[in-house]
Amino acid sequence: MLGQETVKVPFLGAVVSVRGSVVDIRFDEHLPPIYSVLRAGGEGRIIIEVLAQLDARHVRGIALTPTQGLARGMAVEDTGGPLKAPVGKEVLSRMFDVFGNVIDREAALSDVQWRSVHRAPPPLARRSTKSEIFETGIKVIDVLMPLERGGKAGLFGGAGVGKTVLLTEMIHNMVGQHEGVSIFCGIGERCREGEELYRDMKAAGVLRNMVMVFGQMNEPPGARFRVGHAALTMAEYFRDDEHRDVLLLVDNIFRFIQAGMEVSGLMGQMPSRLGYQPTMGTELSRLEERIANTDTGAITSIQAVYVPADDFTDPAAVHTFSHLSASIVLSRKRASEGLFPAIDPLQSNSKMATPDIVGARHYGLAQEIRRTLAQYAELKDIIAMLGLEQLSQEDRNVVARARRLERFLTQPFFTTKQFTGLEGKLVSLEDALDGCERILRDEFKDYQESALYMIGAIDEAKGKPKVGPPAAPAEPDSKTEAKAAPDPAVKSTAKSTPESHPNSGTKPQPKVEHAADTHES
Ligand SMILES: Nc1ncnc2c1ncn2[C@@H]1O[C@H](COP(=O)(O)OP(=O)(O)OP(=O)(O)O)[C@@H](O)[C@H]1O
Ligand SMILES: [Mg+2]
Repeated sequence: MLGQETVKVPFLGAVVSVRGSVVDIRFDEHLPPIYSVLRAGGEGRIIIEVLAQLDARHVRGIALTPTQGLARGMAVEDTGGPLKAPVGKEVLSRMFDVFGNVIDREAALSDVQWRSVHRAPPPLARRSTKSEIFETGIKVIDVLMPLERGGKAGLFGGAGVGKTVLLTEMIHNMVGQHEGVSIFCGIGERCREGEELYRDMKAAGVLRNMVMVFGQMNEPPGARFRVGHAALTMAEYFRDDEHRDVLLLVDNIFRFIQAGMEVSGLMGQMPSRLGYQPTMGTELSRLEERIANTDTGAITSIQAVYVPADDFTDPAAVHTFSHLSASIVLSRKRASEGLFPAIDPLQSNSKMATPDIVGARHYGLAQEIRRTLAQYAELKDIIAMLGLEQLSQEDRNVVARARRLERFLTQPFFTTKQFTGLEGKLVSLEDALDGCERILRDEFKDYQESALYMIGAIDEAKGKPKVGPPAAPAEPDSKTEAKAAPDPAVKSTAKSTPESHPNSGTKPQPKVEHAADTHES
């Protein structure tokens, strides 16, 4: 049953006009306030949210359900309250729609509390200011754009570059280890994906700490516009009342903006740049600002962001960027080269990638990797025009390192096993850093590039075929050394490097040169 039914106020109105999802209603005695929920049709099937008071007797609302069957003159009942979402321990392991109805074909909820979905973000004074890293087990993310516990990360990308796959993989890697509650909110994406995720989570046995809320692409714009608020209301309950950490996953926040655009258009507002609603910034910040950390708990959020036509200057993408502490940009070019996850390291960034937070060794390595990849990107034009042979030896080494790094930073995913045929790999930050460091030290220059492709930790490359011995006398030394040393020994020699940085605790300094040019970050 719907939560809106609990408070019944006998104010009745009548439908004056219906245009698609927009309904004008006349109330003679009492004008319902903004955000009131009204019900019409048989059994109050049609649910309308008031968005504007037109004059002393008329309100304009947007239907959150289809409006078929609604006609002029039909009675409309004011429920006397806003849209509400169920909160409490009972919602765990369940799947909901925007109204808080369970949609997993299990028993209805019995005793839950209902809370308004319209809530203010926590005030500045209640927010906490710790910075802690959130490991994902995905090499390229942990090394180059580490996520923040309690931060907001965005996965940006055009159509079909792997946003959903990456988000699902992160859910797979993190939900099991995360002691808190995970809430998945599907906004305006495919129902099939929602259903698959539900089944996967159930099979993985992590559903008992998870809640799913869906307003998918088949639902009216009003429902897609409010489903994010419903999910956040549940997240806030776990943070504020149960003092637990919450992982909030959203696929896809762009569809929230798009639903707002549809609602705004239907309400007759003049569009702004590129047809977006003039209120986009406010709408987005009202939602994003609620995703915050307080002293009682943290809401960590990962959001997929569809980028229309791969245009990163699109106002929706630009507005979303500004809310996030880490931006992970997926590039079509990488996807077409088969370098999955197709993350562009040079365009992605994270506020956590500073020496104070990740430590000097990690920071130095990340800078060195970025520098190498950036140099390779610059050299690509020359290679295309003149060929690799025309480069200096030094530049050729950079290219070799960069290409090996690029391949090492690919990773087979658990969630893509059925179509790649490769078993998924979870890689610890330490292993990922170790691999990058050894590639930068040219330990793998005799290996074929493909030896590093789609592997987990770097040691998996050992035993894969090497390139024929080109420059024979210079190489064998390092080669045999690398090969002869059993893997733990290699690590321990690295660990026992005498000079260790004050910031990095016991971690060794990398042999690679350090970030002189910090402007690159
Ligand atoms: N890590 C990966 N490994 C292998 N294949 C991948 C990977 N990521 C994405 N793909 C391929 O790309 C396809 C599209 O991925 P996905 O559905 O995640 O895209 P999307 O960005 O969510 O698209 P949309 O914007 O349409 O929702 C997948 O079906 C898969 O074939
Ligand atoms: Mg998707």
